[in-house]
Amino acid sequence: MSTVRIKDLLQHIGERVTVDGWLYNKRTSGKLQFPIIRDGSGYLQCVVFKKEVDEATWNAAGEVTQESTVRVIGTVRAESRAPGGVELGVESFQVPSLARDYPISPKEHGTDFLMNHRHLWLRSSKQHAILRVRNEVEKAIRDFFYDRDFVLIDSPILTANAAEGTSTLFETDYFGEKAYLSQSGQLYLEPAAAAFGRVYCFGPTFRAEKSKTRRHLMEFWMVEPEVAFMEFEGLQDLAEDFVVYVVGRARERCSEELKMLERDVSKLEIVSKPFPRITYRDAIELLKTKGVEAKFGDDFGGDEETIIANSFDRPVMISRYPAEIKAFYMQPDPADPSVVLGLDMIAPEGYGEIIGGSQRIHDYDLLKSRIEQHGLPLAAFEWYLDVRRYGSFPHSGFGMGIERCVAWITGVPHLREAIPYPRMLNRIYP
Ligand code: 4AD
Ligand code: MG
Repeated sequence: MSTVRIKDLLQHIGERVTVDGWLYNKRTSGKLQFPIIRDGSGYLQCVVFKKEVDEATWNAAGEVTQESTVRVIGTVRAESRAPGGVELGVESFQVPSLARDYPISPKEHGTDFLMNHRHLWLRSSKQHAILRVRNEVEKAIRDFFYDRDFVLIDSPILTANAAEGTSTLFETDYFGEKAYLSQSGQLYLEPAAAAFGRVYCFGPTFRAEKSKTRRHLMEFWMVEPEVAFMEFEGLQDLAEDFVVYVVGRARERCSEELKMLERDVSKLEIVSKPFPRITYRDAIELLKTKGVEAKFGDDFGGDEETIIANSFDRPVMISRYPAEIKAFYMQPDPADPSVVLGLDMIAPEGYGEIIGGSQRIHDYDLLKSRIEQHGLPLAAFEWYLDVRRYGSFPHSGFGMGIERCVAWITGVPHLREAIPYPRMLNRIYP
């Protein structure tokens, strides 16, 4: 008899099945024992009735400990009150591997303890639900771009260039030369946009952020589209369509997980077009009306972002930042060259910037002078300048941090729970 995954049991009502999993929890009431087992696909309430099983089975169910491996044979019964709508009338209960003193008990644990046991914490229902949502978000991202004829261009992780400033680079030795872990795939996508028109990359990126905040990881996953001949208006539309799609997919296909996480889904249901679009100058004025001292040239920190976001019920797109606080590659606004055609999308509810993007400078001379002004080594950017030497074209793109997006959708306050193995300041274990 082959084993059945818990999520498929509804199709096996009345049948005798074998289920492999781990003991999640159990309760006893006299002649009945109710072990709850999980197999990664769901949770199954088992019913062990003393009169119906042999002594070995009764004792095994009694002695089994949290997170022991179990193999259960029994009959599937419909039970609307049980998780998944079914329960298993147990006939045989085996424990192939007994877990002794599993460290994470249902009681409260401190964050440091849980982080030290991240490899086990993944089994907990909340972490399990968050990472299932992440899985859906990642699939939705790939579907969104695939369906729109974007070509996936896997960008390198070992790079010779700084894409997003030199202060957050992880440096490594590359056979006697300096190399850096990629901060962004963007520089590699722009040439690929000339080859394919619409491209995206999706992979791990690295920033040595020396600040300890709930919104920063040292290693995070970023998805970055880049589109030839797309200008700034089109970029804002793309970012908006993208976020609406991704949030919609999570809502539709992860309703169980969001329920488990007690997420207020009404906050996600209103994520529809159009998103408010304001300029950086509007944002400064808005902050002033909220009593925040702000002037042209200031960069927004997490607190300012939250104050701005709280003025809207859905993500807000802020555009036209001062050139001096943004990356070297951003196209100046023809109407006001002191600002650039860059955008940040700020999520509601204090989740901060989820997207950063811009139209790119496509004029060779201007880009070259910006590289120099930013004190970047021109030689390392010669290949990148080729995009402007050979058939230059206006183009735009953005990057979205997956963990920020998943934290927002799932409603978890800290990014460390939105990635399986977070890399944080002073933590690379486990
Ligand atoms: O705004 P950023 O730095 O933009 C870029 O890297 C561009 N090259 C993207 C592009 O235009 N192709 O980063 C983009 C996004 C942020 O909005 C945020 O969601 C996320 O990446 N991010 C981080 N997420 C977690 N931890 C960090 N330390 C992050 N830094 C950025
Ligand atoms: Mg940014």
